[in-house]
Amino acid sequence: MYLYIKREDMKKLFVIFTLILSSAFFVINAQKEDQGIVNQLVIVANHGGPVISKDIYGHFSEHLGACIYGGIWVGTNSSIPNTYGIRNDVLFALREIKIPNLRWPGGCFADTYHWKDGIGPQEKRASIINTHWGGVTEDNSFGTHEFMKLTDLLGCDAYINGNVGSGTVQEMAEWIEYLTSDSESPMTKLRKENGSEQPWKVKYFAIGNENWGCGGNMTPEFYGDVMRRFSTYLKDFAGNRLYRVACGASDFDFNWTETLMKESKNRNMFQGISLHYYSVPGGWGNKNSATDFTENDWFETFRLNYQMDAIIKGHEAIMDRYDPRNTKGLVVDEWGNWFQVEPGTNPGFLYQQNTLRDAITAAIHLNVFNQHANRVKVANLAQMVNVLQAVILTKDDKIVLTPTYHVFRMFRVHQDARLLTTDLSCEDYAVGERKIPAISASASVDKEGKIHVSLANLNPNKEIMMTCPVIGVSLKNVTGEVLTANEMNAFNSFEEPEKVKPAVFSGYKLKDGILSVTMPAKSVVVLELK
Ligand code: AHR
Repeated sequence: MYLYIKREDMKKLFVIFTLILSSAFFVINAQKEDQGIVNQLVIVANHGGPVISKDIYGHFSEHLGACIYGGIWVGTNSSIPNTYGIRNDVLFALREIKIPNLRWPGGCFADTYHWKDGIGPQEKRASIINTHWGGVTEDNSFGTHEFMKLTDLLGCDAYINGNVGSGTVQEMAEWIEYLTSDSESPMTKLRKENGSEQPWKVKYFAIGNENWGCGGNMTPEFYGDVMRRFSTYLKDFAGNRLYRVACGASDFDFNWTETLMKESKNRNMFQGISLHYYSVPGGWGNKNSATDFTENDWFETFRLNYQMDAIIKGHEAIMDRYDPRNTKGLVVDEWGNWFQVEPGTNPGFLYQQNTLRDAITAAIHLNVFNQHANRVKVANLAQMVNVLQAVILTKDDKIVLTPTYHVFRMFRVHQDARLLTTDLSCEDYAVGERKIPAISASASVDKEGKIHVSLANLNPNKEIMMTCPVIGVSLKNVTGEVLTANEMNAFNSFEEPEKVKPAVFSGYKLKDGILSVTMPAKSVVVLELK
């Protein structure tokens, strides 16, 4: 038996449901004011929103500094334990955080990369100069086959970034054919000669990177034409369905998005459009040290991190106008904190340490992406190993898991879960005259019905007590994990690799179905509610 509900009745039901929901918020907010409670997160557990794409938890590996060479790839002859040349320690650590997709080979490097240099017998591969990052020579021992092996070992999807800036349409079209076709052709013959009989699956493919800058300094109008030309020849072979990502804007450049969305209206030239936003406290000319900073810098970093919300809203509004049926995704394929390089390291290698500040940055961003699950379909932290806000740092045969790594491990429960409607009211965190919300939050329900709530308390000076009424379910069990440290700038080093690591969280109470949580100062908390 099934229930048939007429369209008009559906509308009425929706109005009634909205009224019930708003009166619930009203009652709770009124209680909150009566009782002088300031911090509250209402979680509506019986009304799921969009699915949080697991790909929001994606990563980025560029040929930059020691990300690929040394960080991921050591080669089969290395004394560092490896699988097909890929470091085992890095591989095992990455599997723990359930990487859903990995972007490669850049970044700015992508628009200088000619993929045919990186195939065939290793000893015959042409060495190249990495003109963008440090001018170093690379022997191309990590190429297409090695990257696809890496994604295979990680159990994640491949996100390949094509070369528009200095490449040709033929080169890009042949790369896709080499990767994904199962028909007989010069490209598939070459792939087989190089040891891969079967084609691979490639989920995401980007048509250039930052083509408004390092990828060719194009105007949006010019790029729009070029992108359409390239896209025309990116074919779907052997059941592979490419999700084509057009190069999108930086930060608040809404004109770029507007131009591309307008020009591509009624044409299915891309399925996603990218967005890059880095938080650079101090500005490009006076970047913060990653480890030696003041509370003012701490505050400013989070103020900049929160801007991600406004930036996404701006681009979303444009996409909603041109694509009201929500067929195209926003792909935030570069985000994170950008600080000064560690003293004594090559400035072109972008090697920075990672503190508790970065952990809270990660929590703020991931909560924002969850909240925008309707439009944000992919996001990639910059970058995975040894570069910018990395999850792993390596030194010879040692590795360190950064505070950012632990946040990705704690938040993995949101992958492919359903976003829950939440209403957060909280105190401000103020420094001088400036204020930002002290708490960042989001919640989801997974396929087994478990609710996960991820929270961050940005205030480094005080713990915060918050009530969390959960509407629609009666809670029986709560568990949680917390990440915090004594100092704002605590970090994991090769000498002390476990200074910042998650611990069991017991700062909650469940009374009469109402959950209250006391978050330590400067902490990230993830709760599981059943
Ligand atoms: O992630 C480092 C660089 O930042 C990337 O190569 C580029 O796309 C961006 O400007």
